[in-house]
Amino acid sequence: MEACSSVKTKLLHSCCLIAILLLLQLNMLRAQKVTAMYVFGDSLVDVGNNNYFETIFRANFPFNGIDFPGGKPTGRFSNGKNAADFFAENVGLPTPPPYLSNKNDLFLKGVSFASGGAGILNSTNDHPLNGTIYLSKQVEYFTEVQQRLIKKIGESAAKRHMSSSLFAVVIGSNDLSKIPITKSPQEYIDLMLSTFADQLKKLQGLGAHKFVIVGIGQIGCIPAQRILNPTDNCNDKANYWARIYNKGLQSMLQKLKSQLKEDFNYSYFDIYSLSGDLIQNPTKYGFLEVKAACCGMGRLYADVPCIPISKYCPNRSDHFFWDKVHPTEAASKILVNTLFNDTKQYVTSMNLTKLLAL
Ligand SMILES: *[C@@H]1O[C@H](CO)[C@@H](O)[C@H](O)[C@H]1NC(C)=O
Ligand SMILES: *[C@@H]1O[C@H](CO)[C@@H](O)[C@H](O)[C@H]1NC(C)=O
Ligand SMILES: *[C@@H]1O[C@H](CO)[C@@H](O)[C@H](O)[C@H]1NC(C)=O
Ligand SMILES: *[C@@H]1O[C@H](CO)[C@@H](O)[C@H](O)[C@H]1NC(C)=O
Ligand SMILES: *[C@@H]1O[C@H](CO)[C@@H](O)[C@H](O)[C@H]1NC(C)=O
Ligand SMILES: *[C@@H]1O[C@H](CO)[C@@H](O)[C@H](O)[C@H]1NC(C)=O
Repeated sequence: MEACSSVKTKLLHSCCLIAILLLLQLNMLRAQKVTAMYVFGDSLVDVGNNNYFETIFRANFPFNGIDFPGGKPTGRFSNGKNAADFFAENVGLPTPPPYLSNKNDLFLKGVSFASGGAGILNSTNDHPLNGTIYLSKQVEYFTEVQQRLIKKIGESAAKRHMSSSLFAVVIGSNDLSKIPITKSPQEYIDLMLSTFADQLKKLQGLGAHKFVIVGIGQIGCIPAQRILNPTDNCNDKANYWARIYNKGLQSMLQKLKSQLKEDFNYSYFDIYSLSGDLIQNPTKYGFLEVKAACCGMGRLYADVPCIPISKYCPNRSDHFFWDKVHPTEAASKILVNTLFNDTKQYVTSMNLTKLLAL
């Protein structure tokens, strides 16, 4: 009798446990709506694509990666993780691997096409020595991945897969740093925006519905630009064109939304304003140094890039810039976490909570 009731209690307990586990799993499924993440962009989100072809835009040597798990350089232009890693963390997915690391994979949880030096315009790739995967090439690669997925799981399953995936795009700074003398800056920006719109439409036509589009930051305040100024001040002209571009980008996105309606949803991240606040009020965010790079040599550690003979700062968490162009892991983390936390201040059209829940 005793033994029997104890068996009963045990059964009840395990039943209960299974029910609880099932509930937990359901909740997790509900929280994790994003099937896969596809990343497009430049060195701010490159996780190693440039390791796989000839280019001068490389970061797979020390002291890059010094704070990455294992302390190894991976091709990220950072002391540790970069924005792509924090995007993935916030979405609850592993960091999408570089496309070129395994071209024939199905990449069911997503893949990164981002490439250091890349821009929106093909002309960001017009030197044989400093090759990049420019945006339209990244979209061509995505088409290959999408076609392979359709072959494997069928058209309607592939459609559902793409529709519940996140498309993150971080690009434009490299184009803006090369405004040619043959064009007016406004003409050049208009060309950037129309080319960008064409590529977004192409992605949308291939099934992409949820986009995170990041604007351009205060590119006039990177150490490489400050040292062009005898007073170490930001390059106002570079920042001015970044603001003009960002404004144009926001109207381009609104126009796309009005054309594509329900089949195009996006969050626009005003990284310009956030990085501005960060540079104005560093201690509010835990930074002590927002002008000089951590790794390099010479004035503001920006005369020489971060290479194995350079010097680097002891505490990478109190510097905004890792090298003369790129943010530290600490800076990328704050930027991306603020994007995902946000409030209307820096994120428009819709916030990430809403976008991810669609
Ligand atoms: C690309 O490479 C060429 C030849 O080495 C060089 O002159 C040019 O400055 C490089 N461009 C960039 C953006 O690094
Ligand atoms: C840019 O390059 C792609 C190939 O990646 C090509 O199809 C396209 O026509 C080029 N665009 C321009 C404006 O040259
Ligand atoms: C886009 O967002 C709207 C609500 O703002 C929603 O009705 C629509 O289903 C969304 N589209 C997709 C493809 O998720
Ligand atoms: C490094 O900087 C961070 C951010 O300012 C600070 O919290 C931390 O205490 C510093 N670490 C050391 C060892 O000084
Ligand atoms: C984001 O929000 C969470 C929870 O409210 C908070 O713990 C975290 O510090 C926030 N992160 C940033 C970067 O604001
Ligand atoms: C995100 O947007 C939704 C719907 O517009 C709103 O209910 C929610 O409060 C917003 N979240 C934050 C953190 O602002």
